[in-house]
Amino acid sequence: MKLRFMPVATSLFFLLLKFLLIFSDLNSDRQALLDFVSAVPHQRKLNWDSATPVCTSWVGITCNEDGTRVVAIHLPGVGLYGSIPANSIAKLDALRILSLRSNQLSGHLPSDISSIPSLQSIYLQDNNFSGVIPFSFSSKLSILDLSFNSFTGSLPPVLSNLTRLIILNLQFNSFSGAIPDINLPRLKLFNVSNNKLNGSIPNSLQKFPLFSFKGNSFLCGPPLTNCSPSSSAAITQKHNVPKKLAAGTIIAIAIGGFSLLILLVLMFLFCCLKKKYSDASGVSKGKVTNGGRGEKPEDFGSGVQGAEKNKLVFFGGSTYNFDLEDLLRASAEVLGKGSYGTTYKAILDEGTTVVVKRLKEVAVGKKEFEQHMELVGKVCLHPNIVPLRAYYYSKDEKLLVYEYMPANSFSALLHGNRGIGRTALDWETRLKISLGVARGVAHIHSDAGAKFTHGNIKASNVLLTRDLDGCISDVGLTPLLNLLATKSRGAGYHAPEVIETRKITQKSDVYSFGVLLLEMLTGKAPLQSSAHDEPVDLPRWVRSVVREEWTAEVFDEELMSYQNVEEEMVQMLQIALACVAKVPEMRPTMDEVVRMIQQIREFESENHTSSQDDKSKDSNVQTP
Ligand SMILES: *[C@@H]1O[C@H](CO)[C@@H](O)[C@H](O)[C@H]1NC(C)=O
Ligand SMILES: *[C@@H]1O[C@H](CO)[C@@H](O)[C@H](O)[C@H]1NC(C)=O
Ligand SMILES: *[C@@H]1O[C@H](CO)[C@@H](O)[C@H](O)[C@H]1NC(C)=O
Ligand SMILES: *[C@@H]1O[C@H](CO)[C@@H](O)[C@H](O)[C@H]1NC(C)=O
Repeated sequence: MKLRFMPVATSLFFLLLKFLLIFSDLNSDRQALLDFVSAVPHQRKLNWDSATPVCTSWVGITCNEDGTRVVAIHLPGVGLYGSIPANSIAKLDALRILSLRSNQLSGHLPSDISSIPSLQSIYLQDNNFSGVIPFSFSSKLSILDLSFNSFTGSLPPVLSNLTRLIILNLQFNSFSGAIPDINLPRLKLFNVSNNKLNGSIPNSLQKFPLFSFKGNSFLCGPPLTNCSPSSSAAITQKHNVPKKLAAGTIIAIAIGGFSLLILLVLMFLFCCLKKKYSDASGVSKGKVTNGGRGEKPEDFGSGVQGAEKNKLVFFGGSTYNFDLEDLLRASAEVLGKGSYGTTYKAILDEGTTVVVKRLKEVAVGKKEFEQHMELVGKVCLHPNIVPLRAYYYSKDEKLLVYEYMPANSFSALLHGNRGIGRTALDWETRLKISLGVARGVAHIHSDAGAKFTHGNIKASNVLLTRDLDGCISDVGLTPLLNLLATKSRGAGYHAPEVIETRKITQKSDVYSFGVLLLEMLTGKAPLQSSAHDEPVDLPRWVRSVVREEWTAEVFDEELMSYQNVEEEMVQMLQIALACVAKVPEMRPTMDEVVRMIQQIREFESENHTSSQDDKSKDSNVQTP
């Protein structure tokens, strides 16, 4: 009898033990934080109160998903000063991100902090730390930013053991001595400018630009000026350069040079041809400029019968003054052909430009179409939605008239022209566009009832205003169209349940928006063609990388060159992953998404001084 209860008792015991362990972990995290904050004076009051829950109410603290451990500290610019005591933060042994940047912390950086085994990102820039930097670091470290401090001493060779390192920022300190040979495969950003380093730049680091090394008066070698022969380091590197070239070598060089020239000419020709080709095909990729080159491949008025002309229905608030005949006479240019139909840019006589969408596969009758359009016309009155100005319905022809958006689509901005000659799309702009789209979609979801959805959120449906605000287009078209006929539409953006049931809900819109955010963060298309036949979808790929805790690996390389944005990127990534949850009920609502994106900036902008941050404060932050 007694024996029979043993297993139950044991499992109960282990459950209790587990519970106690979790409890004690979070308790010890809380205690470590309280120790830290009581030892380090700060100008701004922190609401860290032992009576309130750490994970949900302490400012700057992030816990893991089940709320059992503290995984991130973000306290930028809260006026912390004095030194960090040893044995405080170091006790948070589940910590992944430590950000205490832009404070006035001084003294040594305790080595027990840099070696917390779970630590992935250290942001301590813009403080006044001094002394030598620690000699032991977490092997998981991918970002180390110690720039703008007063560190001295040499750079420890142990840095070359940090194989996960992506960003190493050490500029504006007083580091001295030679730079160790740091040959790290993942290192994308390296900056030791404005220190007191000397000697020659190791080969492994010569691939970094001049600005990574400037401001070290005794540093030499590419990309800086060559080391003078009197410098001992230079002599050891150069002593084997032959003084005289043999005749054979000269001939070899000449032949080599000639082949190189031919190769360059060929490459040039190839590039030109390729460019020409992509210009011509750019039309269907949502590229507005030059599209169609003024030709009129198809007349969008061909289905309009004489008697039905002048039945263009305008929406209230529209200031346009033209009729259908004007529209049909206008010079049109194909902007794109999608599964919804063809989109034209029409330039009317008096210089007005509109976009005309010619729908195919409309699956509803006239009455229903008109009622739906009334609703859509009202919903579209929002700064982040492309305004629908008018529509036309006849048996053979269904036209929608939209305002013309002069800038490109988000998709073209993200993916267009990758490679040489591309202008990088900076973080500020990406954040602004994403927030705009979120607001637009949130408006759609709240304005016309819980059944109203977008159904086709994707980067090519996000158009940009002149000042690069994101506007969502194609609002309210999905219910009009025959979804069966257009099932390949939006590949990669559809939630798993939509692929199965073909039913679009507001939660499936949230999923599509999450994919859009991931696309923005990674710079990758939603469906990755892989070496294997099965394409990998973006949410799955991101989840797999994040699970391996190589979080920084997922981000668009282009974003890695901006300073102080990685934390915001990680926060945005968390929002995106919440949106692409497999179970619809787990996804946030669009209103919540808007609030979360706004919060990325709220805490920081309260105490920032740089002009860039002030600007974003104006445009992004609203007190909820
Ligand atoms: C930074 O710390 C050094 C001493 O380590 C001190 O001399 C200097 O004044 C401090 N700078 C600022 C801006 O506080
Ligand atoms: C780097 O790691 C190797 C092996 O883990 C170790 O033997 C070596 O001492 C480390 N190098 C430094 C400079 O710590
Ligand atoms: C670099 O500076 C250190 C002192 O900081 C000095 O000992 C060393 O000789 C210098 N090396 C070269 C190559 O100038
Ligand atoms: C290194 O930092 C300096 C100072 O912040 C900056 O001017 C420079 O552009 C940076 N270099 C690179 C390659 O990012």
